[in-house]
Amino acid sequence: MSTSYVTTEESIRQASFLKENRELLGSGKQYFIITYGCQLNDNDSEKLAGQLAAMNLSEAPELEAADLILINTCSVRENAAERFFGHLGVIKNLRRDKPDLLVGVCGCMMRQEVHVDKIRRSYPFVDLVFGPQDIYRFPELLNRRLSGSRRVYDVGAEDHTVAEGIPVRRERKYRALVTIMYGCNNFCSYCVVPYARGRERSRKMEEVLEELAALAKDGFSEVMLLGQNVNSYGNDLPEGEGDFVTLLTRAATESGLKRIRFMSSHPKDISSELLEVIARYPVIERHIHLALQSGSDRVLKAMNRKYTAEQFLSIVREAREKIPGVSITTDIIVGFPGETEEDFEETLHVVREAAFDQAFTFQYSPRPGTKAALLEEIPAEVMTDRFNRLVDVQNENSLRSNEALVNTSQVLLIEGLSDHVESAMTGRDSAYHLVNFTIPEAVYESAGLDGADWASRGLALEGRFARVRISDARTFSLSGELEELLPEDWVG
Ligand code: SAM
Ligand code: SF4
Ligand code: F3S
Repeated sequence: MSTSYVTTEESIRQASFLKENRELLGSGKQYFIITYGCQLNDNDSEKLAGQLAAMNLSEAPELEAADLILINTCSVRENAAERFFGHLGVIKNLRRDKPDLLVGVCGCMMRQEVHVDKIRRSYPFVDLVFGPQDIYRFPELLNRRLSGSRRVYDVGAEDHTVAEGIPVRRERKYRALVTIMYGCNNFCSYCVVPYARGRERSRKMEEVLEELAALAKDGFSEVMLLGQNVNSYGNDLPEGEGDFVTLLTRAATESGLKRIRFMSSHPKDISSELLEVIARYPVIERHIHLALQSGSDRVLKAMNRKYTAEQFLSIVREAREKIPGVSITTDIIVGFPGETEEDFEETLHVVREAAFDQAFTFQYSPRPGTKAALLEEIPAEVMTDRFNRLVDVQNENSLRSNEALVNTSQVLLIEGLSDHVESAMTGRDSAYHLVNFTIPEAVYESAGLDGADWASRGLALEGRFARVRISDARTFSLSGELEELLPEDWVG
């Protein structure tokens, strides 16, 4: 396979559709996007929103007010797919009362024939259907619909294009998502992603670095570099044009950003060199997301993960040794077909040994088209029981990790008003611990926010840095009090 980069002609072609659509849509139209799944989908939705804004649409305050609705789907587990069809049912009723409403569905589910067939049969009102590889062609697909096609389904061959220069409307003003590579080559036996997103395609390093420098200039405090396995960034680029360690080093030294994080690293590919680069540059956050999936070598082999539990643990030990204060988070699947009690206990053992700071735990969900979907599932009640036992063990780890920070002082990136604690702000330290903290009234006064309501205070402080004294720990969060609101030009 060879990657093709969007040519200038293609960019000009899409820009001409944007312009035509502006005229066809007229003024005053609103859009609403529903997004499921991971940060890659979040970033894709930001690109869809950017393209819609370039067509003069504004974001609707609620679904009911929209003239155009897009649902960006996720196929990773069955429940995401079920929730999508639930939403589509609601939209079916909206469409009945508003026949001009335009409805598009995109994302990972749209690369699977079984879902597309269901939409064709049961939801014929859907105007546009397209996959994650066609986000850059959205103006063209919408144009076909606006120019008279009744339904536009673009779900055919895999597209190896890497598109640059798509307008982006960023969801947050403090953290920018930057996809550095698309697709996945790993074919873990349970996972739908390689089928949905195609083979790995890396963006050119200079394009990524240019975007990072522009984000720093625009005042973003943090970027998150995204890929299904960032460690294989550059493997598909011509020899000498870059690898992840070089990209991360250059991002840390050239971009002018204050914080850089990345997700995800595959344990089979993470290198000592990467750990050393993280240790060397404080601007790279002290957090590594490293999916374990299972602690049993037999299950890992059946999952096609290509590492053993011992190799995984040795990476964790090396990371903790080389990067003081690093937090390690993980993903774990319980109940993979054929998982025995002994296999599961090996997972519990590795979870205790690795002392993960947080973990995302999932019950195995068979996905159509994957190798594991052909295997016999274990009983649901066994899966639920193991899931609960795993969560208990991990919760002890999480609490211990948080307790270790009590009575320390941490620099936090403020994310805004806390959703859970009244009159408090929320922020994260470099190791991604979540902290709710209070700010004395005098600080609001000196920041000119004494008369402002809480929502405005949250918005005003989003993206700023604060030094906070940690006073209390719970399983999923910490509490603290402000020591110092750092100046806007603070550089770390
Ligand atoms: N590329 C990332 C990695 O390997 O670290 C994972 C990305 S995947 C979108 C997020 C997580 O979903 C996986 O790490 C896995 O734990 C979980 N997952 C994927 N397929 C699953 C399935 N069929 N059932 C349950 N969980 C699944
Ligand atoms: Fe899925 Fe494995 Fe690729 Fe992660 S590395 S996206 S789990 S196939
Ligand atoms: Fe992400 Fe879901 Fe696709 S997790 S890659 S949106 S299947």
